[in-house]
Amino acid sequence: MSKESERAEFLRAEITRHNDAYFVHDAPIIPDADYDALIRELRTLEAEHPEVRSESSVTTKVGAPTSTVFSEVTHAEPMLSLDNAFDEDELRAWRDRVARGLDEDISNLTFAVEPKIDGLALSITYVEGVLTQGATRGDGRVGEDVTDNVRTIRNLPTRLKGTVRGRMEVRGEVFIAKRDFVSLNQRQRDLEGKEFANPRNAAAGSLRQKDSAVSAERPLSFLAYQLVDLDQSMRFVNYIDTIHQMSEWGFFTAPETRLVHGGEAMVATSTWFEEHRHDLQYEIDGVVIKVDDLARREVLGFTSRAPRWAIARKFPPEERTTRLVSIEVSIGRTGRATPYAVLEPVVVAGSTVSLATLHNQDQVARKDVRPGDLVIVRKAGEVIPEVVGAVDEPGRKRGPAWHFPKKCPDCGGRLERAGEESDTYCINPACPAQLLQQILHFASRPALDIEGLGEQRVAQLLGEGLVSDVADLFSLRVEDLSSLEGFGELSATSLVEAIGGSKTAPLSRVLIGLGIRHVGPVAARALSSAFRSYDALAKAPLEELDALDGVGPVIAASAFRYCRDPENVERMVRLRAAGLDLTEPEVTSLAATLAGRAVVVTGAVEGFSREEAELAIAARGGTSPGSVSKKTYCVVVGEAPGASKVSKAQELGIPMVSGAAFRDLLETGTWSTTPS
Ligand code: IVH
Repeated sequence: MSKESERAEFLRAEITRHNDAYFVHDAPIIPDADYDALIRELRTLEAEHPEVRSESSVTTKVGAPTSTVFSEVTHAEPMLSLDNAFDEDELRAWRDRVARGLDEDISNLTFAVEPKIDGLALSITYVEGVLTQGATRGDGRVGEDVTDNVRTIRNLPTRLKGTVRGRMEVRGEVFIAKRDFVSLNQRQRDLEGKEFANPRNAAAGSLRQKDSAVSAERPLSFLAYQLVDLDQSMRFVNYIDTIHQMSEWGFFTAPETRLVHGGEAMVATSTWFEEHRHDLQYEIDGVVIKVDDLARREVLGFTSRAPRWAIARKFPPEERTTRLVSIEVSIGRTGRATPYAVLEPVVVAGSTVSLATLHNQDQVARKDVRPGDLVIVRKAGEVIPEVVGAVDEPGRKRGPAWHFPKKCPDCGGRLERAGEESDTYCINPACPAQLLQQILHFASRPALDIEGLGEQRVAQLLGEGLVSDVADLFSLRVEDLSSLEGFGELSATSLVEAIGGSKTAPLSRVLIGLGIRHVGPVAARALSSAFRSYDALAKAPLEELDALDGVGPVIAASAFRYCRDPENVERMVRLRAAGLDLTEPEVTSLAATLAGRAVVVTGAVEGFSREEAELAIAARGGTSPGSVSKKTYCVVVGEAPGASKVSKAQELGIPMVSGAAFRDLLETGTWSTTPS
């Protein structure tokens, strides 16, 4: 075997392995940029050495085969991928190929330049304007039927606006907006003790759930960028008109899409996107440039894997180097011990980073980062700082390798790693770090919403031995608190009153606060409105939980188990004895879901004029003042929000709810992700 064919074989095996990790398991092993480099090397090798080419080479395929969890769907038209350009020169080379292919001067051409969202491609079928199927791309020809999960995507119409005849497919990307990703990960940390590495994995993992109730808990969004007219009955001349049409039908399309004339404007616009990539509401890994004129697209046609009339200009990931000061471990609500890096502060993707997650023991070992090393830092999903690896510094003597501590940094108890799991846990149920997180979660706004119970105070109560379980909160007396440092008669009284006031919280919010694994707000509401009381829920057989709308097998099993665990049984007895209601009130036509709450709206909320939004809040018992204060329950942030309201909310730590979640807020009085 020649050196080249050996290398090609090696590259094919590597790429296949990474395809499997990325597409089938939603768990990439290497950064996207490294994957792209492997593909490029193989392509160059195949181009320069025709003898190493192979019919079945991964370079001729799109994506990866489907997994066995979902049934297969053969796409009516193949779902192709895009060719990539990695810099302006490669983009100009594509522009010249287009001009040659059309035998036209490039200045005559109009291009659409739009964000390339890093998500998961979906094709959604509509018959007579009604959603009938949702499928993933799979290998481009055959995808997975994920219809049930697709129906849970909040901004995706299940019935199109207006009269729409015939059959068509709308294709686009499922993604999680940056803001939603932050709250989702906070919730994941709370409920599952784990986080997603980036929005793309979170979106893909959420959509490919066996249990659509789990998908429903995830803040998925869909962006439409392609219309496949299966009956060929629509007469569009330009791509941009199909985008406008899809938007009129009720799809979300990229508001940033620009139509530009001529090759240089196209290159300049794509560079503009690179400079402004962090200003968008979603993570992008490049821009997609498409010939706008549909007749010219026909002339250009396709290669075996991608259209010739479009190209993806990929942006390099934004990475910085800095010094690793130390590696510490933090303990979460479930006892999970997460290592993190303490860094010399460095600005990455628009903000200063001084802490970065290292995920788990294996990741630290794999990356072999040691205190004192110069390390590469980037933001996963442009949000969560992470350490990529150490930079080689010839001549510098490195410090010793870091070892995972054997003892909990908080309580000194043993840290244990169970069997095959990659995570390590503090197994001391009385560990104050765990209790702190549990109590904070219980008191958080979507749960019992107890004002005045922040991190410092909870730590103080734990330290004084006044609480060791959420149920202890209800026995706190003014005289226990008023003598503590930082408390006076007044603040002690108001805290005790706030705790007392939370006793009337409906069951759904108590269930959220208990932090039962997998039970997020959607499932908590489904369980509470079905059973109406904790007693009925705790007695219900598993099949009954499983059969509920909005609850699937995973959630049912977890809730069922929770209600039978002796420690939880005792906690519930104590909560009841303390006077918690543990029932869900019957919802009348327009429930007072926002009674006594001040909800500030800023920016345009889709489907509501400002006046309609305010009326809707008032109809649920709430008020909508014009400015943000300490008393504000939450701020609804629509399109083009006011900067001063947003920064005031940030400053005061008032939760911000996306415009898309406004209907949810009206209906339930809460929102489906923990505020960031
Ligand atoms: S068009 C036939 N437009 O990127 C052309 N794709 O790397 C179909 N993507 O498979 C794709 N944003 O999953 C198109 N604005 C956009 C996109 C986009 C993200 C994804 C899509 C595609 C992949 C190629």
